Amino acid sequence: MSTDLNSQGSSTPSRKRSKWDEGDDVEDLSAPTQVPIPKKRAKHSKHPRLPTDRVSSSPPPQPLPPTRRNYSVYVPPRTWHPTIQSSRSVYCYERLNQIEEGSYGVVFRAKDKQTGDIVALKKLKLDEEKNGFPITALREIHSLMTCRHENVVRIREVVVGDTLTQVFVVMDFIEHDLKTLLTNMPSPFLQSEVKTLMLQLLSAVQHCHSNWILHRDLKSSNLLMNNRGTIKVADFGLARRYGDPVGVGGMTQLVVTLWYRAPEILLGAKTYSTAIDIWSVGCIFAELLLKEPLFQAKGEIELLSMIFKLLGPPTKNSWPDYFNLPNAKTITLPSPQPAAFRSKFPHLSTSGIDLLMSFLTYDPEQRITAEEALQHPYFTESPLPKHPDLFGSFPSAAAGEKRRKVFDSPSAPARAANYNLLTELDM
Ligand SMILES: Nc1ncnc2c1ncn2[C@@H]1O[C@H](COP(=O)(O)OP(=O)(O)O)[C@@H](O)[C@H]1O
Ligand SMILES: [Mg+2]
Repeated sequence: MSTDLNSQGSSTPSRKRSKWDEGDDVEDLSAPTQVPIPKKRAKHSKHPRLPTDRVSSSPPPQPLPPTRRNYSVYVPPRTWHPTIQSSRSVYCYERLNQIEEGSYGVVFRAKDKQTGDIVALKKLKLDEEKNGFPITALREIHSLMTCRHENVVRIREVVVGDTLTQVFVVMDFIEHDLKTLLTNMPSPFLQSEVKTLMLQLLSAVQHCHSNWILHRDLKSSNLLMNNRGTIKVADFGLARRYGDPVGVGGMTQLVVTLWYRAPEILLGAKTYSTAIDIWSVGCIFAELLLKEPLFQAKGEIELLSMIFKLLGPPTKNSWPDYFNLPNAKTITLPSPQPAAFRSKFPHLSTSGIDLLMSFLTYDPEQRITAEEALQHPYFTESPLPKHPDLFGSFPSAAAGEKRRKVFDSPSAPARAANYNLLTELDM
């Protein structure tokens, strides 16, 4: 679902776009790079007045004399923290084209004026935030920096626009996202290609999990792919650390886009872990094979019934904890039926079916881990994974080479409206 940020009214000053990301493609490259400093002090400022501004006609306030400190003697001066530097301005980049206007921000293709590098700039959505820099934006930046890996999109820096609400994450530009690619490519990936892509995805997920980061929104539109056969996991907007003590409210259930959401979240589990990302990996594996999403449900109940139909309903054996989950009592399970995997994936080998079933295992405790999956025999049987260099290249919709509307899929769970929820309950 796309939201047109422009159409949501211009009365709120924080909704203003910077000159940089206005729709006008002919950019004023000489635009100012400094935030203007307000001349007047607030009438009811909480800070004591300095003697210099008692008379209104007096010259502008002078800087404090060098002998007066405005910080404690015990706090080292800022110069003692050489690693803390102010962010560069967005005007260091020339705006090329808008790639996507998603639910939570806009992504642009841009050019670094110094190096000529082509990059992607994602504008973080800070509009509605009243309580400082939102925790979700901090998590996105922190997770990208923590999870540096060949198969995770590389964050280059964070730059700022004209006001405090204009913050952009600068990343390497990657030609495709898998959702657009799968829709536009004439035939599905070969088995050998699916294996390469799955190994890369699992390697990235294993890396995130070993760094205590849950992605919480793995899906085809958040997987980027370059023209050299390499996948990069992107969009850490819902990511968080796991393993820390969880607050009384539990972890938020407003995670993972519906079609990729694990059954334990659908059934109201208050805590969850790395297994939720693995369920999404299973849905992506199936999507690579089918060339369309596996569970295209309209709502949570329909999704559960599609899952039960494909896998057979859960039993005491397959998911001992099922009957303790909050929403399990409200659900009437269908009568037992065999899993319908084989007929849905007629071309997948027996070990391929085994791997898919290991991802889509009901019980999160029994679900395979990324590390285990990387060792699965599916990847060592014929046909072997294709070398990334042998992948064909495709026209890049993101670079404006070809553009076609892709099918509609549900968007990630609302984040902006739930900042408080995330802040209060999800620590
Ligand atoms: N580094 C990038 N290079 C190229 N395209 C990108 C990049 N990052 C994001 N995109 C495009 O923008 C879309 C939205 O970005 P994403 O980070 O997923 O934001 P959102 O939180 O709005 O979903 C992606 O699906 C992809 O098409
Ligand atoms: Mg996204």
